[in-house]
Amino acid sequence: MLRTVYFDHNATTPLHPGLMSLVPDWLKDWGNPSSIHWAGRGPKALLRDARSQVARLIGCEPLELIFTSGGSEANNLAIKGLLPERPVGGRDQILISAVEHPSVRKTAEFMITRGYRVEILPVNREGELDVDRFDDLLSEKTALVSVMLANNETGHLFPVARLAEQARLKGARIHCDAVQALGKIPINVKTLGVDAATFSGHKFYALKGCGALYVRKGLSLSTQIHGGGQERGRRAGTENALAIASLGYMCTQADRIFTEALRLRQLRDHLEKRILSEIADVQVTGGSGTRLPNTSNMTLKGVDGETLLMNLDVHGFAVSTGAACSSGNPEPSPVLLAMGLTRAEAQTSLRLSLGWGNSHEQVEEFVDVLKATVQRLRGFQHGAEQFYGV
Ligand SMILES: Cc1ncc(COP(=O)(O)O)c(C=O)c1O
Repeated sequence: MLRTVYFDHNATTPLHPGLMSLVPDWLKDWGNPSSIHWAGRGPKALLRDARSQVARLIGCEPLELIFTSGGSEANNLAIKGLLPERPVGGRDQILISAVEHPSVRKTAEFMITRGYRVEILPVNREGELDVDRFDDLLSEKTALVSVMLANNETGHLFPVARLAEQARLKGARIHCDAVQALGKIPINVKTLGVDAATFSGHKFYALKGCGALYVRKGLSLSTQIHGGGQERGRRAGTENALAIASLGYMCTQADRIFTEALRLRQLRDHLEKRILSEIADVQVTGGSGTRLPNTSNMTLKGVDGETLLMNLDVHGFAVSTGAACSSGNPEPSPVLLAMGLTRAEAQTSLRLSLGWGNSHEQVEEFVDVLKATVQRLRGFQHGAEQFYGV
């Protein structure tokens, strides 16, 4: 039987097995959650329960949550919705990191058309944010800071609580894209001290098509999708009750998040240790920084990332060379370039993101296959160089 091993959990996660039996039951609640007759009661209850479950996991009140179609929409809503239509009182600066997801970066850039300025916070070779630069740039002119909690490509964690404290002192709003952190590390939005935070269901073993935006109580948020009065008028459109219920269910798994974080860290560290000791010329990108427990990003000298990915796929291993959303894009990862890797280095990158279903045996098998594949590809490369005299 063909082996299928999935090491691409930062792109999306498989559905949690516990949901396989729950989803058919929820399908019976097909009504519109806004209906006040009997058909609306079931889906309305699904939404209510999910809202409490998500709120409990991330430490907010249920009504501080707005359900969306996913992380991208929640990031759009946060940035466009928290900022006034035009800058007010000279507050026209938006600060983002150099490694934000396109749904943050491009939304911030869009705000230039509304009179805002975007300033980029650099990261170093280890993926660490330049906090001194943040302190320099932050001022009474800052309208919004948007910095992710965990990077999708390297897993690097940013000091969001510290940034939030500084931002508050200057009267700026702070938003955090926590899509990659949910389910991988414990999160508490109040401890982080942010005004808004983004989450996505499909990165956390739930169904695709739902996300959530936390917005601190009392903040004004302008709606971006106009229509019905769903989500207390903050996001129109009939809710995807099934997907939202699946996210709610996943948020009841707090203990598992904790135990998996410990297990996956050991597994990831073992994986890196074996690769570094058995394959020459490999470097872990951002390995010395604080990272998500499941993510490993590395460069393998002389090995084209796309070619490696396809060769590993033949053996049943699903991995990534960059963010999934930019697949099909031959350009090297902007995140790695922002960290100071050259284009050539970035093109040799491999991202492994482990998840709840992965085992020690899978990791052992993977390293064996990777070792042989890299040896073969480097052999071809060497042969070609000899043949063409390059
Ligand atoms: C850090 C980060 N933010 C936002 C998103 C977008 O989330 P969604 O796919 O739910 O729109 C992603 C998806 O890759 C992500 O990794």
